[in-house]
Amino acid sequence: MLFHDKRLSRNDTVSCASCHDQARAFSDPAVASTGVNGTTGRHAMRLINARFANERRFFWDERATTLENQTTQPVRDHVEMGFSGTLGDPNFAALTAKLAAIPDYRVLFAMTFGDADVTEIRIQRSLAQFVRSIQSFDSKFDVGRAQVPNEGAPFPNFTAQENNGKALFNNPPAPPGQPQTGAGCAGCHAPPEFDIDPNSRNNGVITKIGGTTDLTNTRSPSLRDLIGPGGQSNGPFMHDGSFATLAQIISHYNAIPGDNANLDPRLRRPVGVQNLGLNPQQMNDIAAFLRTLTGSSVYMDEKWSDPFNAQNQLTLIVLPADAVEITNHGNGTATIACHAAPNLSYNLESSPDLKEWTHVEPLISDANGRCQKLVGISGMRFYRFTYTPPS
Ligand code: HEC
Ligand code: HEC
Repeated sequence: MLFHDKRLSRNDTVSCASCHDQARAFSDPAVASTGVNGTTGRHAMRLINARFANERRFFWDERATTLENQTTQPVRDHVEMGFSGTLGDPNFAALTAKLAAIPDYRVLFAMTFGDADVTEIRIQRSLAQFVRSIQSFDSKFDVGRAQVPNEGAPFPNFTAQENNGKALFNNPPAPPGQPQTGAGCAGCHAPPEFDIDPNSRNNGVITKIGGTTDLTNTRSPSLRDLIGPGGQSNGPFMHDGSFATLAQIISHYNAIPGDNANLDPRLRRPVGVQNLGLNPQQMNDIAAFLRTLTGSSVYMDEKWSDPFNAQNQLTLIVLPADAVEITNHGNGTATIACHAAPNLSYNLESSPDLKEWTHVEPLISDANGRCQKLVGISGMRFYRFTYTPPS
């Protein structure tokens, strides 16, 4: 809910999902994304398999030391969501107060953390866990990898071209003067996650959006899902969104355009910079391999989708079973209690089959967040507590 909620921005226009669209592997087709005050200085990253990243620091320049730390930086950013506390923006406390005034959030924070307090740490934990949940493991690559003992073996489900592209991706470049058998990609983007070696320095893409030079970008998101399941591009690619196609990317590594003070040594040569001399067929093979890294469920699974209806509201919150406590009195009655946010109206509902639910009665939680009801327990019934957000 936090990820998809525009109320996390100062003027209710921008959510995390505005720049990280599920249909685009949680990225943005624009080179620079639009926030509440202009556009971002770097391209929005895909958020696939961040949980399994080799490099545990986030953003292109790795300035976020943990995913938790990352998640509220866009909220605190003047351009992106505008709770910066500077330049006339409200501060972060204004956001926690804004969310605490929304009863749905009190219900959900109580459900998640045991009481209804809305704090920055809780927002960070929730958003970081949501980002960690974004996982894509149903690609052609994953199917093939499960059929062989090691990464180097040809995958039975791959075409000859894809297997050749895989070998080129994984193998280190051949010594100068010998036929080229590797592009060295896996040296920095190691399978099976294909994000980045934590020691990587920059890759020679050094232009900053808008013109000047930026040598600080040393992280890449996973190379999974560069291309969507329908063949559409999830680009543009790189921190400056400067490449639109896989071919442009591979040409870049084939002949690194120039040296710089922070260029990764793997892309340097005793004289000059990497020039692989890949032929057009080899370049196409690497592109064919990169296309095998595309999953499908991450684009459609409802669990990552926008939970709001057309009126920007939630429709129903079902409290989790572990918020419910049943005390059997042994005389054909039981007390069903739930721990929820204080002073709100919940419904106790009952069902014979977990499909059709009928309201037993509305209950107001007390100042400690408890609501309870004595019920008869002859026969088989299921019970649940729900909260219906006001419309
Ligand atoms: C206005 C557009 C915008 C919004 C809103 C936005 N992001 Fe981002 N996101 C970006 C950009 C741009 C980057 C790369 C920035 C950089 O490296 O300096 C990024 C990077 C990230 C990363 C780092 C991924 C990695 O692999 O290092 C994560 C995680 C992330 N965003 C999550 C979020 C969350 C959670 C929210 C909502 C609280 C959010 N973003 C809101 C544009 C946005
Ligand atoms: C020396 C380490 C290194 C090597 C080797 C390397 N890369 Fe990268 N790669 C990076 C870095 C660093 C970035 C982030 C660059 C940026 O945007 O500033 C990156 C970014 C990328 C991206 C863009 C990802 C995105 O989300 O926009 C792609 C695609 C990519 N590399 C593919 C490859 C391929 C294919 C090869 C082999 C031909 C390769 N890389 C070799 C370090 C490396």
